[in-house]
Amino acid sequence: MKNLIEDIDVITPVSGEACETMKVTTENSSGKSRKLYIESYGCQMNFSDSEIVASILQKEGFDTTSDLAQADLVFLNTCSIREKAEQTVRNRLQQIQSFKKKKPEMLVGVLGCMAERLKTKFLEEEKIVDLVAGPDAYRDLPKLVAQVDEGDKAVNTFLSREETYADITPVRLDSNGVTAFISIMRGCDNMCSFCVVPYTRGRERSRDPHSIVAEAKDLFSRGYREVTLLGQNVDSYKWSEEENNKARLEKQGIHQVVNFANLLEMVALVNPDLRVRFSTSHPKDITDEVLEVMARYENICKYIHLPVQSGSSRILELMNRGYTRAWYLEKINRIRQILGPQCAISSDMITGFCTETEDEHKETLSLMDEVQYDYAYMFQYSERPGTPAAKKFADDIPNEIKTRRLEEIINKQREHSLLRNQQDVGTIQRVLIEGNSRRSDAHWQGRTSANRVAVFAKSENTNKGQYVNVLIESCTGGTLIARIVE
Ligand code: SAH
Ligand code: SF4
Ligand code: F3S
Repeated sequence: MKNLIEDIDVITPVSGEACETMKVTTENSSGKSRKLYIESYGCQMNFSDSEIVASILQKEGFDTTSDLAQADLVFLNTCSIREKAEQTVRNRLQQIQSFKKKKPEMLVGVLGCMAERLKTKFLEEEKIVDLVAGPDAYRDLPKLVAQVDEGDKAVNTFLSREETYADITPVRLDSNGVTAFISIMRGCDNMCSFCVVPYTRGRERSRDPHSIVAEAKDLFSRGYREVTLLGQNVDSYKWSEEENNKARLEKQGIHQVVNFANLLEMVALVNPDLRVRFSTSHPKDITDEVLEVMARYENICKYIHLPVQSGSSRILELMNRGYTRAWYLEKINRIRQILGPQCAISSDMITGFCTETEDEHKETLSLMDEVQYDYAYMFQYSERPGTPAAKKFADDIPNEIKTRRLEEIINKQREHSLLRNQQDVGTIQRVLIEGNSRRSDAHWQGRTSANRVAVFAKSENTNKGQYVNVLIESCTGGTLIARIVE
């Protein structure tokens, strides 16, 4: 079995909202002269943004490279979600310094959430940084780069109320050619007291659904077979023709509001062979309408990332999550009623939030027993400067206790992941082939609708991007071992 602690704290879920991993771009060369190297940290929103950044700079004559030594321009797209995430970036900047010594003309930029949080302070704290750009400032990058070329430092951390980069076709980086992310909204208007995202990503805004559908169609025509719709809180997606196009529509008398359920259906209708996933759902906002659309379309994957954070209603209140334990469990019931027990559910959890007692921690464990999550991303609380929790509550749970509680929930999750995987043994599942298995070129790797990874021997006439039916013969906590059936 894979190292769960590593999986949980380091690797990005498809759901994708939390991790501190990095990704390097692949080569993308048109033979032009300057080379861009981007590393992304944090959630899938950042990975998706890096593809927008690459697209904007490609138009300015930058090709991407996966070799740092070759780079003329180095961007780190950063995350602030936990202190550890920021420390990782600072360590990486130190390493990059040695490259810059050998190649002084190399330009170093910091993008993303940490850039937004620290703004000009970054330039004071990290001398090697030439450019700082927040998540809504990427259109300005060509100008900022030009400014640095002139010998100045450059900063833009302006947060927008409108920017969605809707018209920019992302350059797919590190792509397997089968699965892709589509950003459907930006920012977050929830004020979970522990969370830095509303400060680093700004106000919530939804992207024009027509541009989302057009992107999905384009991906399908290029051979992609799965899209994941991304947002911090997809259930509050709301786009109104009226608001966005008032004058023209008033003349025509058209009034239309597109909510997340409508959008999901629009994307599902692009093609029955295009799988649709989405992340992240918020327990207080996910509606029966969304669950019913999921039930209606086979190609909408039966998997929901529904982060609970804590099993204690008192802690949830302090976290300002907007639901209680009972409300959350009722949502789980609705999911099981409408989509059946096969629908996979995963979660995020935080241990050792301010004032959390031992009994309240046990409530998280008992909630896990009730839900039996397929998967979970688990963290110990890390106080973030400027957040409501940092202002109002003392970070009073000692580190050893946070860590011990974290280990307890990780151990419990490990049991549940295995249990849920075992329930698939003996069943036939439709799997989308994503590529070679990590361990062997003689095996394919793909995922079931419920997002479980299956590995199976290749057979003739099977290819990446194709659907196959597999019989699940055995499993570990992380993988289904399968065989192709007719
Ligand atoms: N929008 C998503 C989550 C975004 S952040 C949602 O609402 O669920 C991803 C996860 O990181 C969160 O779900 C939470 O579990 C964790 N997280 C956020 N801030 C944190 C902090 N200050 N300390 C520890 N974990 C945190
Ligand atoms: Fe953070 Fe809460 Fe927004 Fe998620 S919903 S990004 S946890 S503020
Ligand atoms: Fe994502 Fe990290 Fe920002 S989780 S939204 S990159 S703080």
